[in-house]
Amino acid sequence: MTTTNAGIIGMGHAYPSGVLTNADLEKIVETSDEWITTRTGIKQRHKAADNEYTSQFGTLAAQRAIENAGLQPEDIDIIVCATTTPDQIMPSTGALIQAQLGAINAAGMDIFAACSGFLYGITMVESMIRTGQVRNAVVIGAEVLTKYVDYTDRSTCVIFGDGAGAAVLAPVAEGKGILATKIRSDGRYEEALYAPGGGTKLGTTHQTIDNRDHFFKMKGNELFKVAVRSMAEISAEMIEKAGYRVEDIDLVIPHQANQRITDAVASRLGVPEEKVFSNIAEHGNTSSASIPIALDECIESGKVKSGDLVLLTAFGGGATWGATVIRF
Ligand code: ACO
Repeated sequence: MTTTNAGIIGMGHAYPSGVLTNADLEKIVETSDEWITTRTGIKQRHKAADNEYTSQFGTLAAQRAIENAGLQPEDIDIIVCATTTPDQIMPSTGALIQAQLGAINAAGMDIFAACSGFLYGITMVESMIRTGQVRNAVVIGAEVLTKYVDYTDRSTCVIFGDGAGAAVLAPVAEGKGILATKIRSDGRYEEALYAPGGGTKLGTTHQTIDNRDHFFKMKGNELFKVAVRSMAEISAEMIEKAGYRVEDIDLVIPHQANQRITDAVASRLGVPEEKVFSNIAEHGNTSSASIPIALDECIESGKVKSGDLVLLTAFGGGATWGATVIRF
């Protein structure tokens, strides 16, 4: 079977204009700018208005990515939307984005893998492109997390923000594009980060609403160590699989979960600070959207150029994790 390399040929991102600063949060819960900054690196996060929802930002990001790729919506064969905060339970946000884009020849679907969702999507469509099943694919990470955050719980409400990023993937020349990619999960971490209400297990009852079970609950310090270990291990494995050494990587773009996690992953991998991208101060943790937003910002600013070797790595609720090595 002949196979083709898959690579990113266009990117876009979008986020709400509304901003929630650490000073705003000081008025809502017992916290301080000093605690949030030193424990997470976050200074502000974007927050959707009441009438804004996930597919709107996903569609905007995808429109920009398709335009930057020099394609039309009709050219797209599949739209994979990674989200943990869908517009509604059914239909999928991917299908809604497909309609909003006018991508009349595409299949739309969702991936539910929390902060690793974008890398799950990339990994899935990479093999579809490689085997010739699809030609042009859009992978989106889109979240409106602030509607799932409990603003009485200071341990989660300071962390999450809203936004979307999208990438168009298509066949690229030999030696370019995705060189190695892998995803993992361990569902035994279910209760370390979850929203138990609203599903078939607990349903939606007065009790689940009184318990605030529809909001995210997180045992952050339980996830901290496993996040660092998992991202560092899978990253090293993918760098080796791609045929390179850590020193060959031009830029690491990790999921923006927490600045201390990013620093610890970089130090475990042996990557110097200047080769690790961070925009967590401005966006907070936008879950599946954080890597595509960060990557698009790097492409726009010239931090990622043609020929660069880039490592993406993520860890999220599930637990889920993954790493991807790309030659641009
Ligand atoms: N302001 C002030 N104090 C706070 C706040 C706050 N916003 N939040 C918690 N505290 C307090 C706690 O109550 C605790 O007080 P105590 O010692 O009196 O009990 C103290 O600060 C320390 O709390 P920890 O939870 O141990 O703080 P930690 O340093 O671990 O930071 C954080 C918490 C930021 C959540 C960190 O653990 C983290 O980032 N964890 C990883 C999160 C992650 O990777 N999640 C998965 C990806 S996200 C996704 O999938 C959607």
